[in-house]
Amino acid sequence: MHYVGTDNLNSGDILAKTITGNSAGLMLIKGVALTDALIVRMKTHGIDIVCIEDNLETMTNDIISPSLRSEAVKSLKDVTSLLKNVVKPQGNFVNVLEHIITAIIHELTENNINLGSMLDLKTHDNYTFEHSVNVAVLSLMTGMAMGYDYSKLKNVGIGAILHDIGKTLIPVEILNNEGKLTADEFELIKRHPMLGYEKAKLALDIDPTGRSIILQHHEKINGTGYPFGKTETTIHEYAKIVAISDIYDALTSDRPYRKRWPVKETLDLMTTLCETHIDTRIFNIFMSRISPYPPGIKVLVSNGKVGFVLNNENRLRPLIGFTDGTVLDLSKVGNFNFYIREIVD
Ligand SMILES: [Fe+2]
Ligand SMILES: [Fe+2]
Repeated sequence: MHYVGTDNLNSGDILAKTITGNSAGLMLIKGVALTDALIVRMKTHGIDIVCIEDNLETMTNDIISPSLRSEAVKSLKDVTSLLKNVVKPQGNFVNVLEHIITAIIHELTENNINLGSMLDLKTHDNYTFEHSVNVAVLSLMTGMAMGYDYSKLKNVGIGAILHDIGKTLIPVEILNNEGKLTADEFELIKRHPMLGYEKAKLALDIDPTGRSIILQHHEKINGTGYPFGKTETTIHEYAKIVAISDIYDALTSDRPYRKRWPVKETLDLMTTLCETHIDTRIFNIFMSRISPYPPGIKVLVSNGKVGFVLNNENRLRPLIGFTDGTVLDLSKVGNFNFYIREIVD
């Protein structure tokens, strides 16, 4: 269960705690499915916040629609499995991917969503595909913030969605065991950028910049990455963008060998990778579009109370609702003694 402001309730949400004792006599029993009329009544009775049952769609803070996300995952999965036996360029595969990338660009533009946190739950079987779609969305969001035009965005998106295509040529048991690999297995995983690059060159007629993303997304700006040990001046800018999205999405995802990291801790860790692994200027642009406190997340506030983020229009000082029904809008509190102390697991 989690707390939601009545302004953000939807018809069909299930009440997780009974509302009683309202002086005007409104009483709603736990388990009731809310209707538009009930939501209006709650508002007119001055109820600002209620506890509802968890629903993944309300807990996630997705920046593309669930239908487009699943279409993207399915298309990428189809193209990948067909590609396995293909040895010459297939224009129709590229068309399918371009269609998906264009749809994502349109949604990002039309929804005018400027904050993402991408706390979606990936299944282990589909991890590489779902991760690749996330990396494409995050990279497009960053490219847009950098002022890229459609043609640049399209090449970033295609390269990003295909960045780990080489992993589909590596056994799943090894991929799902990344936490404890033998030296040989790790060397095999490290071949995925080159394997993917070669596959793309052979079977996909994409822009060379897209192939550079596949080949260079594990390079680090201090030259310690792979496969070539390229440096700040020789890594393609698109690959620098995708490297940031890739690290972010990997850390904020549950993996078989570890739990996902909270957004705030992930951004803090990534800040320490600037100047060594990732490009500082691009990371600052990326970070400005990510919300460390997505709606639904539980936080400990400096007043000692635990609450839930209801709304993160102010990405660093969001609106918080507490279990006693009170609400604290950090963006409107002039007193900076009030702040989020930590995210509660
Ligand atoms: Fe990779
Ligand atoms: Fe990746």
